Amino acid sequence: MQQAPRIAPSILAADFAKLGEEVRAVTEAGADYIHIDIMDGHFVPNLTIGPAVVAALRPHSPLTFDVHLMIAPADLYIPAFVKAGADIVTVHPESGPHLHRSLQLIKSLGKKAGVALNPATPLDVLDHVWDDIDLVTIMSVNPGFGGQSFIAGALSKIAAARKRIDAGGRTIDLEVDGGVNNENAAEIIAAGADVLVAGSATFSGGPEAYAQNIRTLRGPAAHTGGS
Ligand code: DX5
Ligand code: ZN
Repeated sequence: MQQAPRIAPSILAADFAKLGEEVRAVTEAGADYIHIDIMDGHFVPNLTIGPAVVAALRPHSPLTFDVHLMIAPADLYIPAFVKAGADIVTVHPESGPHLHRSLQLIKSLGKKAGVALNPATPLDVLDHVWDDIDLVTIMSVNPGFGGQSFIAGALSKIAAARKRIDAGGRTIDLEVDGGVNNENAAEIIAAGADVLVAGSATFSGGPEAYAQNIRTLRGPAAHTGGS
């Protein structure tokens, strides 16, 4: 029986002039993770924040900090993000020559290791690292910007990842990132996602709307105890 999905607001869609307040607001509104998008203007065509900002946000929420690294190289900066307060560190396979080494580095620092797959990156890049990961992020947009449209082809990839995770028997979060909204959340959950990243859909309407936005994304399963 599928559990109610966890919701990970991407703070990329928050008001950057008051990030601490925004993180507190979504925490109080019932978010499960705080999704933090790190971009370097090189691996992706956008720039966001570094470890100093993550460290500044850490006191504002006890929730899992789900740090999505869209930077290359990643390994060089992983210790700094862990020190800043990351609980999950997710890398893209294309961001360095040695995915296994990056995952071992994250785990050696005592944190959960994730891999994010771009829309054109096949699932089989994970064939030999399934035992080394705690989270897979299926990107349903090309990384770099919030507010893009969900790429429908991601649904079959989510379903395939679900199958592979269930067959493997280890606990691995299946996260979906990009263009998640009230209209498509149900089919993404039905395809097998257990964590929905949602930037625009969470942060629309201002802080008074966050709790309802999160409830709507979770869907009816959340109200019936996860059936
Ligand atoms: C895209 C980021 C996403 C993005 C999601 O590169 O990884 O986390 O912020 O934003 P929405 O939910 O607005 O598509
Ligand atoms: Zn992200």
